[in-house]
Amino acid sequence: MKVLAFAASVRRGSFNRKLIALAARIAREEQSEVDLADFRDFSMPIYDGDLEEEQGLPEGALELKQRVEWADALIISTPEYNFSIAGPLKNAFDWVSRARPMPWRGKSVYLMSASPSPMGGIRGLWQTRIPFEGCGALVFPDMFALPHANTAFTKSGELAESRMAERLHMELVGFLRLAEAVSRICGKAVPPRERTRRSQIAAALEEQTAIQSGSA
Ligand SMILES: Cc1cc2nc3c(=O)[nH]c(=O)nc-3n(C[C@H](O)[C@H](O)[C@H](O)COP(=O)(O)O)c2cc1C
Repeated sequence: MKVLAFAASVRRGSFNRKLIALAARIAREEQSEVDLADFRDFSMPIYDGDLEEEQGLPEGALELKQRVEWADALIISTPEYNFSIAGPLKNAFDWVSRARPMPWRGKSVYLMSASPSPMGGIRGLWQTRIPFEGCGALVFPDMFALPHANTAFTKSGELAESRMAERLHMELVGFLRLAEAVSRICGKAVPPRERTRRSQIAAALEEQTAIQSGSA
């Protein structure tokens, strides 16, 4: 199974990046093909409808869209900002959501968070579910929030507390099994030629709607 994994932080010492590296390793051990991305690969401007109309998706958003389309499942570790979803992740999500067919639809998603706070970012994860579910992704019921992230990792990048390490392993394996079943039942990632055909159909439909409503 193909998994895209990334941390929604570009900070050099990011705790979320440490956590996603662990998750990627577990997924590989479970025989998944993992694309561990750097969020810097997806750098993009603030969503701007005019820019979209003039130039389409910016480069970083296109890169993310293509890598999402490749994957059957996504594992994302994200900071909580001000009790909610992190702005950079939401911005990236919004840009990609403008593509057709909707790239997030049908993707299995496991959400994680790491924070130095005692809550571990769990409040942000509840908010992060919303756009994913709204756009048709299947977000795994369990979410992993790592509290006290500043002291939670050993020097070699493992989780210091065995209880947390076991929980992460158990949840991830459960997620990967479910995601594999979903992918088997709902079909593999759409091949490029079929994607092009679908976007042509979507463009034609949009054009027809514009003609009917008199805006073209
Ligand atoms: C704008 C901003 C808002 C934040 N809000 C929260 C918050 O609501 N809850 C929390 O646990 N941590 C909050 N933090 C602290 C982050 O959890 C902390 O900076 C964390 O290290 C960010 O993730 P990273 O290490 O992967 O970059 C906030 C940090 C910033 C910069």
